[in-house]
Amino acid sequence: MSAPRLRLGVAGLGRAFTLMLPTLAHDPRIQLISATDPQPLACAQFERDFGVRCVDSVQALCAHPEVEAIYIATPHQLHVDHVEMAAAHGKHVMVEKPMALSLEDCTRMIEATQRAGTVLLVGHSHSFNAPILRAHQRIQSGEFGAVRMIQALNYTDFLYRPRRPEELDTAQGGGVIFSQAAHQLDIVRLFGGGLVTSVMAHTGAWDPTRPTEGAYSALLGFAGGAFASVSYSGYGHFDSDQWMNNIGELGQHKDQADYGAARRRLANAVNAEQEAALKAARNYGAPQWAGNTAAPTGLQHQHFGPLVVSCDRADLRPMPHGVWVDGDGASTLDALESPQIPRQEVIDELYNAVIHRHPVLHSGEWARATTAVSLAILKSAQSAQMVVPEFQVPPIR
Ligand SMILES: NC(=O)c1ccc[n+]([C@@H]2O[C@H](COP(=O)([O-])OP(=O)(O)OC[C@H]3O[C@@H](n4cnc5c(N)ncnc54)[C@H](O)[C@@H]3O)[C@@H](O)[C@H]2O)c1
Repeated sequence: MSAPRLRLGVAGLGRAFTLMLPTLAHDPRIQLISATDPQPLACAQFERDFGVRCVDSVQALCAHPEVEAIYIATPHQLHVDHVEMAAAHGKHVMVEKPMALSLEDCTRMIEATQRAGTVLLVGHSHSFNAPILRAHQRIQSGEFGAVRMIQALNYTDFLYRPRRPEELDTAQGGGVIFSQAAHQLDIVRLFGGGLVTSVMAHTGAWDPTRPTEGAYSALLGFAGGAFASVSYSGYGHFDSDQWMNNIGELGQHKDQADYGAARRRLANAVNAEQEAALKAARNYGAPQWAGNTAAPTGLQHQHFGPLVVSCDRADLRPMPHGVWVDGDGASTLDALESPQIPRQEVIDELYNAVIHRHPVLHSGEWARATTAVSLAILKSAQSAQMVVPEFQVPPIR
């Protein structure tokens, strides 16, 4: 008998969905049943691509009798309502990062799925990446001794990609703390043991035309004594993917001829309306949609910028093609095979949770702890004080 497929519905067919599209289209464990989005062009594209019917609301998707799990890829501020809706209909959920904008909302989401007895997985985040998981697994084996220090940085043009107005308003979840720190903090919390005991941070909002945080630097202390330094610049002119063998965040080769492309494109939008239209025009099914469902080729593993994890007897560097281990006597590459389908690690966790009832690493509790550290970065920067984040949990083993 063949293995059961996970019957998935999708809420929100925007940018996040397009990043999961190759995975959802090609992982044989997934059967796409339906989707919903207020954008008719996106729904029409989904119906053409997958030969299924879209429904007209998240409520209707949750009530769909054939859907057993819902991938919620709507804007951050809608996550809490959509997760509660799914749970009320007994559906399992994978909700995009950041989990929510407040810890209260995270708790509501956890409690709703607990009441329903359904799975709550928060992702994708880059801590699902195979090189991160491999480095973590090797460190857990004890061969390198304790984790002592973690350095993570990332320089991108994040702030100059076309945005919806709320993506440039911190109160509505805009800026790099909500959208990007979730990736980096998930990664360093995994290596540091999860339990962040102190956060001291600075944030930067340097461009008044894009009035939200575009950069941060934070020092995190962990229970057990490890510490991490995390920095992100979404104002980057330098692109730190150069330090990742010119492999981009999505595992793709980066062409240096594309230097400055985001800023050049944005120069065509003179106001917020035009900018939102610029973003919408490239969305799934929109006139400038250039993607397709073909199997991607030539990819390496995804990453979230240069990272060094220092242990007693080695420094480990997860890279797009494996993990560099610089030990006492030798520097070796723990090579990983190139992925055939990107982000399959996300489906591994979702599928095993729903079908085999395995516990999840990227649980609601885990993501609430990451959200607490993100909020602590904002609070520490505003108050110039050290902040102790709430709700910290260790990773499951
Ligand atoms: N993991 C990743 O790599 C990644 C990348 C991008 C975005 N995200 C996350 O995904 C979420 C969405 O961001 P995005 O960049 O895709 O935004 P987006 O604007 O590109 O897409 C959001 C989509 O949701 C739809 N939508 C809005 N209200 C809806 C509703 N009530 N019901 C159904 N659909 C609705 C919109 O029409 C749009 O198509 C955010 O939380 C973001 O942080 C994650």
